Amino acid sequence: MYKFKTIKLFTLCCVLLSVNTGLAADAYDSCINCHGEKGEKRALQRSKIIANMSKDEIVFALKGYINNTYGGPMKTLMQGKVAHLSDAQINEIAQKIGK
Ligand code: HEC
Repeated sequence: MYKFKTIKLFTLCCVLLSVNTGLAADAYDSCINCHGEKGEKRALQRSKIIANMSKDEIVFALKGYINNTYGGPMKTLMQGKVAHLSDAQINEIAQKIGK
């Protein structure tokens, strides 16, 4: 009985872990078209090359778009792209793309 519970718990952890990493991959997937696979493109010839931004700058920018405290002439577009992101997803994106 004890062993059975341990295995169940272990399985649950694995599932949660893979769901987590799965979300992170998806979170940036919708950005690739404009920003490039690794953030190496200037989105619509307008954005900074986000791969050159630090992790902190990316978090700052994304939260800023959500709170309407950051952005240039095309910020409305970006606000629509990031409105649904959780803090955890923002951090994952920053880890993945930022310097
Ligand atoms: C339709 C194209 C498009 C998509 C999709 C898109 N972006 Fe952007 N992104 C832009 C543009 C254009 C800007 C510049 C907006 C402005 O004027 O502030 C920008 C700006 C940014 C910036 C700040 C860089 C700067 O120039 O200050 C970050 C960080 C960023 N995007 C991340 C993301 C992330 C993460 C996603 C996916 C959740 C995403 N973008 C999806 C076009 C896009």
